Amino acid sequence: MRRALVVNFGGQYAHLIARRLREVGLYAELVAPEEALESARSPDVAALVLSGGPSSVLEGGPGLPREALDVGVPILGICYGHQLLAQTLGGSVERGPGEYGRTSVRLLVRDPLFDGWSDEETTWMSHGDYVARPPPGFEVLAVSERGYIAAMRSRDGRIYGVQFHPEVSHTPKGRLLFENFVKVVGLRPEERWDPAAQVPRIVEEIKSAVGPEERVVIGVSGGIDSTVTALLVARAIGERAVPIFVNHGLFREGEPEEVLETFRRLGIAVKYVDASEEFLRSLEGVADCEERRRIIGRLFVDVFARAAAEVPNAKWLAQGTLYPDVIESGAVKGADKIKSHHNVGGLPEKLGFNLLEPLKQFYKDEVRAIGKALGLPDEVVHRHPFPGPGLAVRVMGKFTREKLEVARKASKIVEDVLKRRGLYRGVWQAFAAVGDDKWVGVKGDARAEGYVVIVRIVESEDAMTADYSRVPYEVLDEISRRITSEIPSVVMVAYAVTSKPPSTIEPC
Ligand code: XMP
Repeated sequence: MRRALVVNFGGQYAHLIARRLREVGLYAELVAPEEALESARSPDVAALVLSGGPSSVLEGGPGLPREALDVGVPILGICYGHQLLAQTLGGSVERGPGEYGRTSVRLLVRDPLFDGWSDEETTWMSHGDYVARPPPGFEVLAVSERGYIAAMRSRDGRIYGVQFHPEVSHTPKGRLLFENFVKVVGLRPEERWDPAAQVPRIVEEIKSAVGPEERVVIGVSGGIDSTVTALLVARAIGERAVPIFVNHGLFREGEPEEVLETFRRLGIAVKYVDASEEFLRSLEGVADCEERRRIIGRLFVDVFARAAAEVPNAKWLAQGTLYPDVIESGAVKGADKIKSHHNVGGLPEKLGFNLLEPLKQFYKDEVRAIGKALGLPDEVVHRHPFPGPGLAVRVMGKFTREKLEVARKASKIVEDVLKRRGLYRGVWQAFAAVGDDKWVGVKGDARAEGYVVIVRIVESEDAMTADYSRVPYEVLDEISRRITSEIPSVVMVAYAVTSKPPSTIEPC
């Protein structure tokens, strides 16, 4: 199978580029600039895409050896990558006032890369440096409204640079540009990337890794990643796949039952451990969310290890690690840790299992496609992401069981209303959080103080950035009415209208 290499110059968009390429049928992987030359020489490499990044080529930002651009495959440079092409191939780059956000570009030349584009299109830009002079032999294809070079192409049509970001949704014709680029690459139909078609290969890999008597334990949580992991392992080794479901008491309403029901329908036996009392007792009164994450992480390892120890000959642990978790995201080194997120840490080494990570090549959307192909019901395939520490991160201030139940019931109402109105799938996450603030209400004729619940509904592509969803007022109205009538301890419902950044998605 031929693939594209996305050279990761540290922009948060490198993963988005790889996702877009895969979506239009060209399998793509990220490589670090230092590895680019060697990787690009591999005969299965069909294209190179140079990502954007926070550095400046004028200040010694990461480069590429000239030979990497001479390997003969089509190349697309994006933003920083576009500037790097100019600098490496004999053009010039200068610093300017920059262009940020939606920017109109005008096509000067009709080119296959812009098939289906009008002469004038909206793109999304984020740059200070700009290409002042294209390399010798390059033609300018498009200019921005400020007159900067928005796109250029080598005379032989093999190397392209674009100043804008075609990978973000704010460039409406961006996906089309990637489709056009894949045509330039010349992919044969049988080479088109199809994640669901990988299932037989993954199953074979698991079969050949796991010994004939050995068992594999899988920590399942109801999320798509762990569910699909469990399904793949079960398909490979049948009953020697043992999913373990630890109920920490912090799930969405009805979720533990749904998880067990899903596996029952799929004919897979789950080892269920209800440890909710243990978790809730340890969390009670803890105000600091990071401390709660640590408590939950530690307890989870303990409970899981105890359950796994009861599985005879369990030599393997399968985890739903995804591609973005494997590849260093290109976050600025030494950057502040905002939250100690993302998967309960330290499970594998501590427990001494061999590790299986059948999804480590895939993005979330691809895991959904695989899940669908394996027969998972739509509710599971399209269930919103849910943090490992569950509702514990939706209770602000001291953790109490009362507030936990408020967050749980209110979140359920938010999800229900969106589902009923057909809005659920269109948003990234939707929930309610609660803290200690009280609002005065009237019950009958009497004054009655109650909780303030904050409803958060966000749209996002990867949780790195997010925007609040502009749901119609009637939807907010229905949510507010239902929450205040069905949860008597709540008298005020507020809607969170701040994007990420500056705020995060979860309240803590
Ligand atoms: P934030 O709140 O940082 O969240 O904007 C980004 C995404 O991560 C999820 N999240 C977590 N996931 N453990 C997880 O596994 C955590 O501790 C955690 N905290 C936040 C959040 O739901 C969102 O999708």
